[in-house]
Amino acid sequence: MNVLGIESSCDETSVAVLFKNKLLANLISSQDFHKKYGGVVPELSSRAHLQIIIPLVKQALLKSNVELKDVDLICATAGPGLIGALLVGFTFAKGLALSLNKPFVPVNHIEGHIFSGFLMDEKPEFPFLALVVSGGHTLLLLVKSFTEIEKLGSTIDDAAGEAYDKVAKMLELQYPGGPKIQELASKSKGTDIKFPIANLKHPFDFSFSGVKTSVLRFIQKNKIVDKQLDYKLKNDIAFAFQNAVNGALIKNTEKALREFKVNSISLVGGVAANKNLRNSIVSLGRKYGIKSIIPNFEFCGDNAAMIAFRGKTLFNEGKRFDLSSKPFPHLTKDGFNF
Ligand code: KG4
Ligand code: ZN
Repeated sequence: MNVLGIESSCDETSVAVLFKNKLLANLISSQDFHKKYGGVVPELSSRAHLQIIIPLVKQALLKSNVELKDVDLICATAGPGLIGALLVGFTFAKGLALSLNKPFVPVNHIEGHIFSGFLMDEKPEFPFLALVVSGGHTLLLLVKSFTEIEKLGSTIDDAAGEAYDKVAKMLELQYPGGPKIQELASKSKGTDIKFPIANLKHPFDFSFSGVKTSVLRFIQKNKIVDKQLDYKLKNDIAFAFQNAVNGALIKNTEKALREFKVNSISLVGGVAANKNLRNSIVSLGRKYGIKSIIPNFEFCGDNAAMIAFRGKTLFNEGKRFDLSSKPFPHLTKDGFNF
């Protein structure tokens, strides 16, 4: 079965072709121009998706040596994401499905991330714990099968990636801030600076707005003394902030590992590209004697391979969708498709 996947929820247009378990193409076109605005501008994002979607689909099919008539299933991100951006990929995919008379599967973007570990050679084993850390969401989930996902906790304010991006902005670093913070943190020789992490009532929930505010206060205080932060202090702030956020993520993940018997742990989403976090998850896996599956960088950020894979699993589980479904900008109450 040839599966065509399309992702356009934010600032990446991506098209993938999956044949059985083999990924034939996973093309990702990133909209770098948002950098100069300090964040994603929704209207500009939709227009850029519109311009690239057709050439990208053609290129992905060409690379895969698959003709349109040989596509068996079409999957596209339905949400959550920017509604204008979602509409481009979603409507294009539905139109294609209609014209080719092929089945269409709307895919929840978060579910795409959750199962992205299956794109690796070594795959997660059910039940597994998934730590989803992206620009818009932070979730700790118990994944029992392709259709049973239990939410253990989530952020009550900012997402982890959002906190990285906001603190990067405070340090006058370009969007997206995560990789820049990581780079600065790696130059720090260690510091006594500590940013506090909230202790929440719910054992698996997260909160990152307090850390963000204490970084802001710290910067303001030091700027009074010095107007400009020197580069060493910036490196140390990045280091302390990264430790605080990643420490909170690891702390709750470890609590969940103690409470639930799982066979693997999977770290997914854009922030899963963070080297410090990747290393900590691997150590945690070793400590608890379970596999840790962390996708390659290509599958951490937004990509269509994960959308094609997730769509295929839903189709194989017997789920069928008609063309009347609409894209959704926010996560629904339970958050998932089934
Ligand atoms: O999953 P993703 O590509 O898009 C959403 O679905 O939100 O995640 C993007 C987020 C951004 O906030 C970005 O700053 C963060 O992932 N990110 C990182 C790193 N690389 C990307 N955060 C920390 N360290 C990184 N190396
Ligand atoms: Zn994402």
